[in-house]
Amino acid sequence: MADSIESMQAEGMTFEPPAWVRDNAYLKTREEYDAMYKRSVEDPEGFWAEQADEYLFWHKKWDTVLNWEFDTPKVEWFKGGLTNVAYNCIDRHLTTWRRNKAAIIWESDEGRTKMYTYQALYYKVCKLANVLKKHGIKKGDRVVIYLPMIPELAVAMLACARIGAIHSIVFAGFSAAAMRDRIQDCGAKMIITADEGIRGGRVVPLKAEADSALYECPTVETCLVVSRARARVDMEPGRDFWYHEEVRSADISRHCEIEWMDSEDPLFILYTSGSTGKPKGVLHTTAGYLLYSAMTFKYDFDYHDEDVFWCTADIGWVTGHSYVVYGPLCVGATSLMFEGVPNYPHPGRFWEVIEKHGVNQFYTAPTAIRAIMKSGDDWPKKFDLSTLRVLGTVGEPINPEAWMWYFNVIGKGKIPIVDTYWQTETGGHLITNQPGWTPMKPGSATFPFFGIRPVVLNEDQSETPVNSGGRLCIDFPWPGMLRGTWGDAENTLVKNTYFSQFPGKYFTGDGARVDQDGYYWLLGRVDDVINVSGHRMGTAEVESALVSQPLVAEAAVVGFPHDIKGEGIYAYVILKSGVEVPKSVESILAGHVREQIGPIAKPDHIQIVPELPKTRSGKIMRRILRKIAAGERDMDTFGDITTLADPSIVKVIVDGAPKL
Ligand code: WTA
Repeated sequence: MADSIESMQAEGMTFEPPAWVRDNAYLKTREEYDAMYKRSVEDPEGFWAEQADEYLFWHKKWDTVLNWEFDTPKVEWFKGGLTNVAYNCIDRHLTTWRRNKAAIIWESDEGRTKMYTYQALYYKVCKLANVLKKHGIKKGDRVVIYLPMIPELAVAMLACARIGAIHSIVFAGFSAAAMRDRIQDCGAKMIITADEGIRGGRVVPLKAEADSALYECPTVETCLVVSRARARVDMEPGRDFWYHEEVRSADISRHCEIEWMDSEDPLFILYTSGSTGKPKGVLHTTAGYLLYSAMTFKYDFDYHDEDVFWCTADIGWVTGHSYVVYGPLCVGATSLMFEGVPNYPHPGRFWEVIEKHGVNQFYTAPTAIRAIMKSGDDWPKKFDLSTLRVLGTVGEPINPEAWMWYFNVIGKGKIPIVDTYWQTETGGHLITNQPGWTPMKPGSATFPFFGIRPVVLNEDQSETPVNSGGRLCIDFPWPGMLRGTWGDAENTLVKNTYFSQFPGKYFTGDGARVDQDGYYWLLGRVDDVINVSGHRMGTAEVESALVSQPLVAEAAVVGFPHDIKGEGIYAYVILKSGVEVPKSVESILAGHVREQIGPIAKPDHIQIVPELPKTRSGKIMRRILRKIAAGERDMDTFGDITTLADPSIVKVIVDGAPKL
């Protein structure tokens, strides 16, 4: 990232939250936060029981607040309690003034708006829930949702929750092959998709993708198809049904009984990348997840009843689950859902939507900010952004230059930016500032949320001294944490991935340091996970996609600094010997990765190499590959390469790398 004067100024600077935001905030002072935080860690059961009472409706109270051990690991919150996520997100608001409040405001790609009150959402969700039941979906069945950002996506999630079905959303940017793997892994009985998606004026052929996935998915009995684009698509008799016809059918009531769920019954599975080749199905359960997403939503964005909240994330990612749908609706908020992209039809689209709907809180990713920054300061100036009170960022550490631009150009220097650090596995924010009281340091996520006990450790398990980097772990369970991964009753995968490197602690996979004022600074992943445009991608996942191509013998994938995406994907590929190599081999390989995973996984650069730098025991020295990908060409900077089986290969790879 180029260092501007602004980014240098931001170094070491602290920005106080503005008084006009503080005065109306839930938490106005450090003392208020400290008192609540202290209580949350000294008496977690008392604290969370109180919150569970305040935030959730209980059909039956829990037997125990918390059972846990981090060996297996096993974590249960509010066990024995009966509640329902859809009831909490909709029904209970219907007996209050919120009944006619907008729950969802939808802004389409072309700029149309639809609004659903809580009452209207209730009918839509009940009808779809009845359709699911009619097609044999019962409590515990899995439903894969492959939809663009349209209201039916939120409706489908809530309809599943209402009857106790487990949803697994596959981001509509993933390919048929990626969807097939997820459907097979969770054994889905139904999928809900659309004819086509429309993003940035372009058509995404969702039903066609779904069809090719479904060839290999015998568990799927029904496919519901939303008509988003009024496209003609193939409909297989007996399997495929139009969503609008089903919900309008005469036998479908607009009321649907609630299925009361144990607090620990699964709510959803969301596949996410790790260091292994296969994405894992992170499992979240009912009460703890909902409580945690609702509470982080309210405090971290300082949401008040009259506000319009906008999170730009796609619901296919965890940010959309927790902060477009579940957190906001649980507290009765108005949540804006956006189908489009930041730069269509013009680079001011975000700001236009803020003006159009009077958005008060705006939550996006650093990669989006960097992309928009490039089109200059004039676009935001064209629109009235005066309703904004809180800005948020998520997905990767925000660089000071982007922070300063967001703060000065969008926030006019008087709106706090919350930098929320968390993960698919954590259900909601782990470390973040809060709008009313936290003095901000650009690039620092600041302090832990209530109940979160972070520790930064050296490899030998000792705590790191002030300002020295280490591995970020969490010492104690919190309600929103993952309970397991799908299909692993023993929790072996969870144990190996998160609980074995630092026994007795949850290891995030991120590096961090704590400064002299107790501020947390996230330093990026320390495992083989890269962060491309705020999306998590396992290097091993891209590698296995590459080696599944018949020309490829071996592949090694690393991340490299990219000034818009944060990290780009660089693939080193050894081709099979004896095969005839087509001229356009790089684009064939890139296209293959796109087909196997989706456009987000397409390597930015593919370098064909004769061999990889391996130690004598065959381990690839990724350190060297990362340096070359980052543009290092000076052989003296590679450190000790004498342990390589063939040290001369480094020079060969450097010579074959693109000229800078
Ligand atoms: C990174 C997204 C620094 C981090 C919610 C984490 C961040 C991974 C931040 C999880 C932030 C997310 N500052 N890094 N504010 N937010 N990350 O599962 O590396 O898609 O481990 O969840 O994103 O990505 P995931």
